[in-house]
Amino acid sequence: MTITIQDVKYSYPSHPERLVLDIPSWSISEEKKTFLYGPSGCGKSTLLSALSGLIKTTGNLMVFGQSLSDMSSEQRDIFRAKNIGFVFQQFNLISYLNAIDNIKLASGFGPNHRNETIEREIKILLDELNISEDEWSEPARNLSIGQQQRIAIARALINKPQLLIADEPTSSLDQVNRDIFMALLMSLVDQHKITLLLVSHDMSLAAHFNNIVSLDKINFAGKHS
Ligand SMILES: Nc1ncnc2c1ncn2[C@@H]1O[C@H](COP(=O)(O)OP(=O)(O)OP(=O)(O)O)[C@@H](O)[C@H]1O
Ligand SMILES: [Mg+2]
Repeated sequence: MTITIQDVKYSYPSHPERLVLDIPSWSISEEKKTFLYGPSGCGKSTLLSALSGLIKTTGNLMVFGQSLSDMSSEQRDIFRAKNIGFVFQQFNLISYLNAIDNIKLASGFGPNHRNETIEREIKILLDELNISEDEWSEPARNLSIGQQQRIAIARALINKPQLLIADEPTSSLDQVNRDIFMALLMSLVDQHKITLLLVSHDMSLAAHFNNIVSLDKINFAGKHS
């Protein structure tokens, strides 16, 4: 199993009395492409934060057989960097850095570090994502939203994660760019045998997935038994 959850509970520190997550049991196996949906505020982003170790829950949360519940925040940071790629809704590229340097930064090298191996890998990824060579050296702010979002996938994949987590990655894209983005994402996920967990409101994306999950069905927070 890529992800196994048992009795995971979480409340934000500002509202300790209000459970946001209360998931008795849930798992995802390696070969699954999971589409997670649910109404605004139901805890989707919170669950993704827990799975990537940004917040610590109670209960047992295992990713690749390792228990995030038993790790310190430093250990969770190292675990995330090694094993998990993350694509955000706002892709958070550094606007004055070009594509190559944005991705290089995620691989742990500074923009001024010259390393031929990593630069070759970045260029292969950018090529796979249909970012043309003319665009490699443009600052991110000069690129289109669709191009920036594809660079954000490259950045999430540079460390060869086995799990890719994406939170509403298509919400700033128009329909044409959304379709291009999804086709590329799916081909990369298949090619590199990555487990994909994607959150979206856009049910039209669900057709790309073999595991469709409503968070309301697995998360009992806010429900009275
Ligand atoms: N940093 C925070 N501090 C306190 N409460 C928070 C925080 N972030 C989220 N919440 C609350 O936790 C609940 C779940 O929020 P979350 O962001 O996980 O929802 P979501 O399902 O991702 O919603 P959306 O579809 O709008 O992105 C909401 O009630 C929200 O108000
Ligand atoms: Mg959210």
